[in-house]
Amino acid sequence: MRWLYLIASILLLTACMTPTYPAQSPAGIAVAATKTATILATAAPTASNTPTATATATNTPSPTATNTATPTPTQTPTNTPTSTPTATHTPTNTPTPTITPTATPIPQCTERIPPDELLTIVSREYRLSREYEPADLVPLSDYFDVRVTLGFDTYIRQPVVQPLVEMMAAMTAADLRPTIISGYRSYDQQYIAWSKWTTEVPERASLLSAPPGASEHQLGTTLDFGSPELDNEFHTYFYQTAEGAWLVENAHLYGFTLSYPREATEITQFYYEPWHYRYVGIELATQLHAAGLSLTEWQLANLPVPCEAAN
Ligand code: DAL
Repeated sequence: MRWLYLIASILLLTACMTPTYPAQSPAGIAVAATKTATILATAAPTASNTPTATATATNTPSPTATNTATPTPTQTPTNTPTSTPTATHTPTNTPTPTITPTATPIPQCTERIPPDELLTIVSREYRLSREYEPADLVPLSDYFDVRVTLGFDTYIRQPVVQPLVEMMAAMTAADLRPTIISGYRSYDQQYIAWSKWTTEVPERASLLSAPPGASEHQLGTTLDFGSPELDNEFHTYFYQTAEGAWLVENAHLYGFTLSYPREATEITQFYYEPWHYRYVGIELATQLHAAGLSLTEWQLANLPVPCEAAN
């Protein structure tokens, strides 16, 4: 029996170990091949049997990193430049425009109204406007009694008052009895006087009396003096009276000058008038007296042309 059992086991074992191959179509063969490849690929061991080189760790010390780095220099703060103040705008010198002096127009003498000053030239050529009248006329009656003014309503400019008062006082102190026949005359008053002379002595009137506008009397700084010796009349011999002689010698000491000396008729264009004095101040009066010059001559030489004379 044991033999039978043994034979039967051998037969069974043999049957199990022999593969059976069912008939397969070519397609079945390809599918099987694919399955096999898949299986083979899946079952492939990952670890190869190639011995892995074992890294032998050499105990070489890691190089100590030497700090060879050049220290980065601390950034030295540079001096931040202080902001330079912006230069304020310096104004450039704008060239000053050159002013070309323009000639001051010279007025016609008929329109001439000069300032109230002491040296204004008045002559036949350089006349005054009819409108000119000094602003500071004062009546002589405020300073002298009727024996001096002869009762005339005479005016002079204020700057002449004090020198005149002093001079008249000096003459009185010298036992003289001077009178004042005339002082300021307006343009119209001069016209009346000139017309009288023109009517009475037409052949000499132009040298005895100034036409209106050409008389120094319109300035208010001119006086005609009289003497009792001539009954206070105008006469060439006035210079021989005590009063006339004193004035020739002393009037300049008070600032008065003889306007129409005998020697200056050609320049002044008026006859000698020993009674006619004009106040110009002590300095010029003394200068003219010492030089023997007429005021007109001095004015023509020293003053600008004051106006354009009518033809
Ligand atoms: N007798 C002088 C010139 C005059 O009339 O002003």
